[in-house]
Amino acid sequence: MKINLNTEFAASAVYSDADYNRALAIMDELREDKEAYTGWVNWPVTLPAEWMEKMKTVAEDIRGKCDRLIVIGIGGSYLGTAAVLEALGGSKEGYPELVYAGNNMSGFYHAGLKKVVDEHDVCVCVVSKSGGTMESRLAFSIIKGWMYEKYGREETAARIVAITDPHKGILREESDAEGYVTFEIPSNIGGRYSAFTPGIMFPLAVAGVDIEAFVGGAKAVQADKEYWKNEGVRYALTRYALNQQGKHIEVFEYYDPSMRLIGEWCKQLFGESEGKEGKGLFPASLTFSTDLHSMGQFLQEGTQIFFETVINVLNRDADVIVPESAGPELAGRSLNDINKMAVKGVMAAHRKADIQIVRIDVEDMTEYSLGQLLYFFMMTAAVTGKLMCIDPFNQPGVEDYKQEIRNLLGQ
Ligand code: PA5
Repeated sequence: MKINLNTEFAASAVYSDADYNRALAIMDELREDKEAYTGWVNWPVTLPAEWMEKMKTVAEDIRGKCDRLIVIGIGGSYLGTAAVLEALGGSKEGYPELVYAGNNMSGFYHAGLKKVVDEHDVCVCVVSKSGGTMESRLAFSIIKGWMYEKYGREETAARIVAITDPHKGILREESDAEGYVTFEIPSNIGGRYSAFTPGIMFPLAVAGVDIEAFVGGAKAVQADKEYWKNEGVRYALTRYALNQQGKHIEVFEYYDPSMRLIGEWCKQLFGESEGKEGKGLFPASLTFSTDLHSMGQFLQEGTQIFFETVINVLNRDADVIVPESAGPELAGRSLNDINKMAVKGVMAAHRKADIQIVRIDVEDMTEYSLGQLLYFFMMTAAVTGKLMCIDPFNQPGVEDYKQEIRNLLGQ
């Protein structure tokens, strides 16, 4: 099964034939990969087999050296790894746990990582396309310092894997000088579109994730042109149509806390791709049923400036049967089945409030389905951005705050 789109509850998302044809033309252009930063479009099928082999071999070597892999990176160089691993339920048994650093500048957070270095066998995977991002640079220098004390410089270098631009940046220079094992993030693939590059897949491989299946899911959707003409393209068109009708917020909703970081990944992908030139849908995310007890009220009766996108997972492997003590209506039922009733019930209630709802059905939360889902979202962000006539691959707005921070730090 491919990602299935249900727009039964999004009746006002009507788009013209002209918009449909425009979206198909945009997709054809993206596939030609002539524009800057469109390397990700054909990447899952063109990803060299030697890269996959190298990732698996180095992952095995790193697994032999540590029980904690500290993954340093932020934004597109962090969220894909964390989101996929969390949705899969964490590292496979017996594989190193991943610990994240450099995704914030909190001294409190990073001080806590000293204990990890002191009490565990650690390796580091530092991911930065530019090599110069402040958060990752800071975390890398702090953690490297602790590792020098524990292992010495030479042994530390053997425990570091750096993933960066093939040719430029200070991380590339340092890696060459110190002899770190390196992987590349191709020059024509930007951070938030890098889900199928080593920047995301190598740390996943260390955690025991089946990266062949993950990229296999992406390949299956990428290659299927008929799918994009029918099912696939409709999500971008629906989002665009709802935005045109005054819906300015897209609320991503899911019914499992293990998908919280998928929501964060979506926020980064869509927010950074679309939010420019006074345009774009503001992406928000909610975990249900938890957030029904906080934001449920607003959704049902608050200002109608949003639409909902429910990421609906059809099958989850682990489950619990409700015991007798829960009462006759609930006893004997599976918790996953009750959760499915919640999806239906909440959609029915929100439909009564005339909320526009898109439901994305995903078969399960396996590597293969996650590969499909992430690629589906990436293509959607690019096509919607182009329909909005903005460049979905740049992020000029983030430079402003970075410069202000640099000014304050006297850099
Ligand atoms: O999507 C993007 O381009 C950004 O979110 C980057 O991934 C993020 O800023 C980290 O950049 P870098 O990988 O250069 O450290």
